Amino acid sequence: MSNLIAIIGGTGLARLEHFTVEERECLTTPYGDPSADLVFGRLYGREVVFLARHGDPHIIPPHKVNYRANIWALKTAGASRILAVAAVGGITSRMAPARLVVPDQLIDYSYGRAQTFFEDNLRAVTHIDFSAPYSPGLRAWLLEAGRKAGLDLVDGGVYGCTQGPRLETAAEIARMARDGCDLVGMTGMPEAALAREQNLEYACCAVVANWAAGKQPGEITLAEIEANLERGMADLACLLQHGLPA
Ligand code: HPA
Repeated sequence: MSNLIAIIGGTGLARLEHFTVEERECLTTPYGDPSADLVFGRLYGREVVFLARHGDPHIIPPHKVNYRANIWALKTAGASRILAVAAVGGITSRMAPARLVVPDQLIDYSYGRAQTFFEDNLRAVTHIDFSAPYSPGLRAWLLEAGRKAGLDLVDGGVYGCTQGPRLETAAEIARMARDGCDLVGMTGMPEAALAREQNLEYACCAVVANWAAGKQPGEITLAEIEANLERGMADLACLLQHGLPA
């Protein structure tokens, strides 16, 4: 297995701190162009390839991200494991703003996105097992790195993926809470399923940017999102410093 680990950076993480860039590669794929150049380098001594999910600069909204091209490009680059960083809204009480969460389940509410590699020129119809959408090994590594860094990571939670780019209504969030969602984000799918289709290990480190709609009085503001993401990303940097998987 290749030792290269991929990090997909979401909102608030267009660039990695302490990342020594060695090479940039502008790849194209049978599915079109990935969101940005792949950036190869070293992060605390480990070989890493970084991809900015929303482009660099940050201009691609969640429903326009070419998830297939991104996953294909990372696989072609030799990555076998993907750590996906994603900004989310918190729905249940443990998911407070600025916390880091390692979800263990997801529900997909997105629509109209190219969501599989298995649709054309098939020799057989293919159904991947997706009972556990996140890699247990990568999740365990994230939780252990968080523990070593002295961070209070949330272990587990259901990530609900909405279409965006607008935020949700309070009624939509209430419905998601009834469905069992703990977090709401816009990019978790089809990214996770496409990684599974390509046999890549995939786990998510979610950074809570705000209480989801209706979970706090008043509107959700960009200022609060930015402030919470800044705190969360500082913790993420600390986590990465305390151990990338061997
Ligand atoms: N909803 C969906 N996606 C998000 C949110 C939210 O409240 N906050 C950050 N990403």
